[in-house]
Amino acid sequence: MAAGKEGFQHATSCHERVIVRDAALAHGVAMAALPSYLKLKVDHKTVLCRDLETYRSLRDFLLNSGYKSVYETERVGEEKTAMATFACLSPLTGERLAVVLGLSAPGEVSHAQAPFAYGFAGKRQEDARTYMQHLALRTTDIEKLRSYLESKGAEFLTPIYKDKDSFGPLLQSFTRELFDDEWFFIEFVQRDYDAEKAGPGGTQFVQNTVRSLYVSKQEEFREWEKNRTKRKFLDGVPEKERTKLLRDILTNAEPKGYVETVAPISRNVRLT
Ligand SMILES: [Fe+2]
Repeated sequence: MAAGKEGFQHATSCHERVIVRDAALAHGVAMAALPSYLKLKVDHKTVLCRDLETYRSLRDFLLNSGYKSVYETERVGEEKTAMATFACLSPLTGERLAVVLGLSAPGEVSHAQAPFAYGFAGKRQEDARTYMQHLALRTTDIEKLRSYLESKGAEFLTPIYKDKDSFGPLLQSFTRELFDDEWFFIEFVQRDYDAEKAGPGGTQFVQNTVRSLYVSKQEEFREWEKNRTKRKFLDGVPEKERTKLLRDILTNAEPKGYVETVAPISRNVRLT
């Protein structure tokens, strides 16, 4: 793969190859490849909304900007709390976005309202109307990727869900949250068809996976509300290796530079 100018030089281990820095590339040195399951591509991102007005405004704006609806549901979740979801795709750029409104109940906050109920980045956030909840990165082999990350000590919240959306077979696995003062996590996705070429299909989606994820997140959130601490994605990785592992995941994701625009990442990680 072609490394961008922000390529990093990493130490090798028995599982990894070297990613060569720009200087080496400039001199025409052949670059050893990352394992293909670590050549990640941005698949979609999901934004939470504080209220119905924000949700409707974002939906309206995206449709006015050429995005096509690929999935919409008014309520998926548990008996008490749930979420509404609108997912769309830009046929022009291929960017996929999901917009979510957490629906709290008397006596229980939906985890999808957590950034607005409890704040983020170390403070209450009265003015925030949106929060970038997760980034989905696409791999060619989710089983290998997950085994590799787990061998390093990383922890996932969910198993690998195997389902289908309107485009074709879809495998998904969700990490634990990455940071203490945030609600951000990563979704790894494997799509066994050409995701670059898929246009807006029908509006069928992975309802079961969406519900399972909701329940897992809500259980994790109830734990956090009780204890005000959480087990994070990389807590099981020796501290000195955490930054490198996170960089291995994020720095090479294509398009280059995209992950740095995701607010919880840019607030917490220096990638360059
Ligand atoms: Fe997602």
